[in-house]
Amino acid sequence: KVVAVIMVGGPTKGTRFRPLSLNIPKPLFPLAGYPMVHHPISACKRIPNLAQIYLIGFYEEREFSLYVSSISNELKVPVRYLREDKPHGSAGGIYNFRDLIMEEDPSHIFLLNCDVCSSFPLPEMLEAHKRYGGIGTILVVKVSAESANQFGELVSDPVTNELLHYTEKPETFVSDRINCGVYVFTPDIFTAIQGVSTQRKDRANLRRVSSFEAMQLDTRNIPTDYVRLDQDILSPLAGKKQLYIYETTHFWEQIKTPGMSLKCSVLYLSQFRHTTPHLLATGDGTKSAAIIGDVYIHPSAKVHPTAKIGPGVSISANARIGPGARLISCIILDGVEIKENAVVIHAIVGWKSSIGKWARVQASGDYNAKLGVTILGESVSVEDEVVVVNSIVLPHKTLNVGVQDEILL
Ligand code: GDD
Repeated sequence: KVVAVIMVGGPTKGTRFRPLSLNIPKPLFPLAGYPMVHHPISACKRIPNLAQIYLIGFYEEREFSLYVSSISNELKVPVRYLREDKPHGSAGGIYNFRDLIMEEDPSHIFLLNCDVCSSFPLPEMLEAHKRYGGIGTILVVKVSAESANQFGELVSDPVTNELLHYTEKPETFVSDRINCGVYVFTPDIFTAIQGVSTQRKDRANLRRVSSFEAMQLDTRNIPTDYVRLDQDILSPLAGKKQLYIYETTHFWEQIKTPGMSLKCSVLYLSQFRHTTPHLLATGDGTKSAAIIGDVYIHPSAKVHPTAKIGPGVSISANARIGPGARLISCIILDGVEIKENAVVIHAIVGWKSSIGKWARVQASGDYNAKLGVTILGESVSVEDEVVVVNSIVLPHKTLNVGVQDEILL
């Protein structure tokens, strides 16, 4: 049997995701019409002999209960949310629930970060892992040399694929091959985490007798049960024939900012074209709006037949799109109203916001720039004919004059 664990973090994480994370836990923010965490969960469906999926985080139980029960029914695989009382770090989090995770007596455990966007080649990773042996295999991707320092950089053996060297977010360049935050482990991973935790406890005891020792330790302020997968486990195990890599050439992105969530929504829409085309709007029929490229429209949304939608557009529940509106590369959240002849390009329009007639909400579409995507928080009102360019607008604001390159608090 195999189990999968998805790390969802908690309310003190995901701060770069504001203002969108003010309304909803980041893992539930919709990309291509489905919660961020839904994409790795549905990828898990392809794992042979999958017995359970666990989400581990420190959000309140009730924030995930609805989603978890509906996805369990839909997938026919039990999905459970396990709440930590406090953050234990990415490895400490799974260690904390090791007894529960081991109940199914799994031969392998997948571990996935929830804030990455990928085609998640999980069955392929498992096959590779079985060939390599060792305690784990890491999904790896090549990125540009300039961006590599935002990730865990690693070096592997080109022939055996063994992980030889690992450094988390290094200051000087090590490699353009990076850790995707997707792993498959054998249950021996728990022994490795326990090793780190025990070592910490021993040092903490030592420190009580020697203040000199305390000065030597850079880990002195870290609680003994807080274990990071990258620094504390991957780095020391590199080069010991325990860890291997599986390199993907498919898409992979990290989702830390609202701008990146738009990029990933567009990526998932184009993946739907290949995997689940029935989820995309077709634009068939005389009463339908003109649909261009990959577009998701929730069944409860009302789109006027003279509107023109796409490519890269996702429209959530109960949104209303008026006559002649033009939408390109955007996420329209629940209950939004877009009035006649308004234009939305490279933008995220927050819950229950309204965009007036002939108004424009747009941005350059440079996903990595701070203001490359225009973001409107919840219940923002853009009045008729107002133009909003490259800006972030916090919830409940009314805009009656145009703005450009601004963050409106
Ligand atoms: N439950 C729980 N508890 N989840 C946590 C905790 C915790 O204490 N700490 C982090 N997480 C979750 C986050 O929500 C996220 O999904 C994942 O674990 C990793 O988060 P971070 O530890 O903050 O690392 P990161 O995202 O900056 O970088 C990691 O992922 C990159 C790929 O996206 C590293 O592993 C990098 O090496 C890697 O490149």
